Amino acid sequence: MRGTPIPMPPGSDRALLDPFGRAITYLRVSVTDRCDFRCVYCMSEDMAFLPKRDLLTLEELDRICSTFVRQGVRKLRITGGEPLVRRDIMSLFRSLSRHLASGALDELTVTTNGSQLARHAQELAACGVKRINVSIDTLDADKFRRITRWGDLSKVMAGLDAAQAAGLKVKINTVALKGVNEDEIETLIEWAHGRGMDLTLIEVMPLGEIEEQRIDQFLPLSTVRARLAARYTLDDLAERTGGPARYVRIRETGGKLGFITPMTHNFCESCNRVRLTCTGQLFMCLGQEDAADLRAPVRASEDDAALERAIVDAIARKPKGHDFIIDRRHSRPAVGRHMSMTGG
Ligand code: 5AD
Ligand code: SF4
Repeated sequence: MRGTPIPMPPGSDRALLDPFGRAITYLRVSVTDRCDFRCVYCMSEDMAFLPKRDLLTLEELDRICSTFVRQGVRKLRITGGEPLVRRDIMSLFRSLSRHLASGALDELTVTTNGSQLARHAQELAACGVKRINVSIDTLDADKFRRITRWGDLSKVMAGLDAAQAAGLKVKINTVALKGVNEDEIETLIEWAHGRGMDLTLIEVMPLGEIEEQRIDQFLPLSTVRARLAARYTLDDLAERTGGPARYVRIRETGGKLGFITPMTHNFCESCNRVRLTCTGQLFMCLGQEDAADLRAPVRASEDDAALERAIVDAIARKPKGHDFIIDRRHSRPAVGRHMSMTGG
């Protein structure tokens, strides 16, 4: 099968179907667990990172991604950690772009904190990347420093300028944080929409040990939405991405606003995605511990047959859904790993 990248329409025989009939067409790939920021809801300040030898090489990452593409995946998202801090990461984008050129892949995209974007925006666009997600939780430089601990907002802004100049469509991701940026949500919306960028609000998820209590950070988006509805006209959009986001169009700004509410809404029935970590663990669900090791079959042989089988077996174990809970009695994270491991 190697070397014959035949595009498969969703629902075709060779597509990856899970036990609940969901076609897996979207792979998110965390290429590093490292980051040049330490966002308070994401990481502890003294994170221990993986030793380099545990990481998949860029060639191995390409092999796994390409195998998924042969098996029907139509969309790849490169995440982290911060994907653009991995050494020579652009070579992975360059090699994966062949699947866009052949028509086997519909979309190659990236989620980034923007810190390295000024350097890479042009080349991302040249590799066929059309849209990117950039995480920004505040427009206040001091608050930005407090949330990210190490981040420099002006660098991220320069990255955004470069991305838009390169023709990349930018979506801003904002984690809604109680008492931290909740008074800034309207400012963020008007800023993003004013620059032609969509914005998606995200609820804090209980992933990994951090210093603060997540109950103290958690701001339900139902509350945010109710506040916004008092000020703006929100028109529900029917479009779904197979993910947890729901979208509205704000009539006054003309821009799109997304809500990712993993804690308050169930979206699992339409899930089309799986997640690969930088060590080759495949997580079938962001909210569950079960993972399949793809590094062993990749390293066991040059041939992709064992890898293909491991992927099919893994998809056959995809669970029906997650069960995240944040409350006083569940102060421990629902899953022990951080978002930086499985990717946002
Ligand atoms: N809960 C919600 N969002 C998180 N992110 C990182 N950790 C968490 C968490 N525990 C966000 C980042 C980024 C996206 C990739 O995931 O801020 O916007
Ligand atoms: Fe880095 Fe993103 Fe985590 Fe912040 S949220 S520490 S930018 S991986």
